Amino acid sequence: MFDGVAKRYDLTNTVISGGQDRYWRWATRNALALRPGERVLDLAAGTGVSTVDLAKSGAWVVAADFSQGMLAAGRHRRVPMVAADAMALPFEDESFDAVTIAYGLRNVSDPDLALREMLRVTKPGGRLAVAEFSTPTFGPFRTLYMEYLMKALPRMARAVSSNPDAYVYLAESIRSWPTQPQLALRIEDAGWSRVQWRNLSGGVVAVHRGFKLD
Ligand SMILES: C[S@@+](CC[C@H](N)C(=O)[O-])C[C@H]1O[C@@H](n2cnc3c(N)ncnc32)[C@H](O)[C@@H]1O
Repeated sequence: MFDGVAKRYDLTNTVISGGQDRYWRWATRNALALRPGERVLDLAAGTGVSTVDLAKSGAWVVAADFSQGMLAAGRHRRVPMVAADAMALPFEDESFDAVTIAYGLRNVSDPDLALREMLRVTKPGGRLAVAEFSTPTFGPFRTLYMEYLMKALPRMARAVSSNPDAYVYLAESIRSWPTQPQLALRIEDAGWSRVQWRNLSGGVVAVHRGFKLD
């Protein structure tokens, strides 16, 4: 599916998020408090659009994704890229200062296994940030948003995306994804500590942060 959306992925993101995607990326980078020279894994990085943003911190950031089509669509970006499955990472234990996954965890077939793999490759004291679509907190806004997701979004995607059906899947997968507290519990169950989240755009997106104990 992702090979099929790769060609116009970056543009479609900006259109369907009403330009909010830049702010969401900035907030994810902020949550990680990256420092120059740190080693960072950007998992399910797709075209590397999230990786480039993280690299603005001066950290060394590697993009990993299992879609050859997505990686190829981001070939022009000056970031290291690795073809990898989130559920069996080709990296040694404790090799990253921070790991992050943006709009990817929902798409992995076993998200709990991916969270445990991310913990394995993180150094003790290292950080995790998960950016994902979530549940708006204000009831009337939540109702409107669900209407947008199920009706307007697939129609907009038909106009801009290279694979509009993928955006029907997007709407359905967001609707069935855990709420903020439910996801925090799953991240803790995978072994991460001090898990907290920050809502963005009223909870349309949430960034969950966690730490690997020293
Ligand atoms: C919506 S894109 C997110 C791309 C990027 N992180 C961003 O912020 O725009 C989701 C990505 O998850 C990747 N993905 C899904 N399951 C995966 C897995 N098991 N291992 C690696 N990547 C996976 C897909 O190939 C796709 O590129």
